[in-house]
Amino acid sequence: MIQDEILRLKKEKNAVILAHYYQDAEIQDVADYIGDSLELSRIAAKTDADMIVFCGVNFMAETAKILAPEKKVLLPVKEALCPMAMMINRQKLLEYKEKNPDRVVICYVNSYAEVKALSDVCVTSSNAEKIITSYKDQKMLYIPDKNLGLYLKDKYNLDIDIWPGFCCIHNNLRQIDIDEAKAKHPNALLLIHPESPLDLLKQADFVGSTKGIVEYATKSPAKEFIIGTEDGIMHPLQKANPDKKFYILSTGLRCYDMKLTKIEDVLHALQEEVHEITVDPETAKAAKRALDKMLEMS
Ligand code: 13P
Ligand code: SF4
Repeated sequence: MIQDEILRLKKEKNAVILAHYYQDAEIQDVADYIGDSLELSRIAAKTDADMIVFCGVNFMAETAKILAPEKKVLLPVKEALCPMAMMINRQKLLEYKEKNPDRVVICYVNSYAEVKALSDVCVTSSNAEKIITSYKDQKMLYIPDKNLGLYLKDKYNLDIDIWPGFCCIHNNLRQIDIDEAKAKHPNALLLIHPESPLDLLKQADFVGSTKGIVEYATKSPAKEFIIGTEDGIMHPLQKANPDKKFYILSTGLRCYDMKLTKIEDVLHALQEEVHEITVDPETAKAAKRALDKMLEMS
């Protein structure tokens, strides 16, 4: 069986498989660790494995490489990219910084090393609220996700410029999705990821990261939940809560890039040691400062 061969190779090569909650159930089930961006970064930073097979999208594998430069980090499908991470680049950020030298630059991990390298601190959806509010008396720039930025700006009345990037999956959610889901499931609580539009977030019972959503649903005494994030999360939700009911907010909540990785790709990555992530050492050093600061502050 393919899973047995993966387990054998993992042991032989002292490799660890990290999978984001948005991966297919089959991949989550073969992974050593499943988590959100923050948790997977933390694991990458402290693992004593020689090799990390990162089942997610490339900014996540790149982050793992920056935090664990001595490890071999593999991305099973090299085309697995996050479109949001491509909505800002080094040049555009340099131009902004030149005009606004007094703003603290806060960078969502859904970004590339060259952008993190020019930032003061990174955040994920798990720790953005804590880290951004700790700068509340300063002027800030938040890159590149406008929805998470606008959500915190509105909640805390912050002096923060917001980059106009977005997640094409969460940003597509509409009022009609909520209206239809609530009409079908009137007793369900609404849990939404902060990459979604602000007017929808304001109607949620809980706004949080993928891990936050899993924890909230697991601890809650409620029995039914409408889930406003990518549908890979339905697997860990249902696994941890077999007696509860989960309904996806929209059938559009499927990240093409996250779903590119198949179990055969994981096996191939382990067999051939592809596709190895590399980061220019100077860029990695500067990006690591922003990531380390995030890990310290979260
Ligand atoms: P999390 O940090 O909540 O796992 O989110 C990552 C992501 O890409 C959401 O679209
Ligand atoms: Fe990027 Fe959105 Fe896919 Fe997350 S769900 S990886 S933010 S495109």
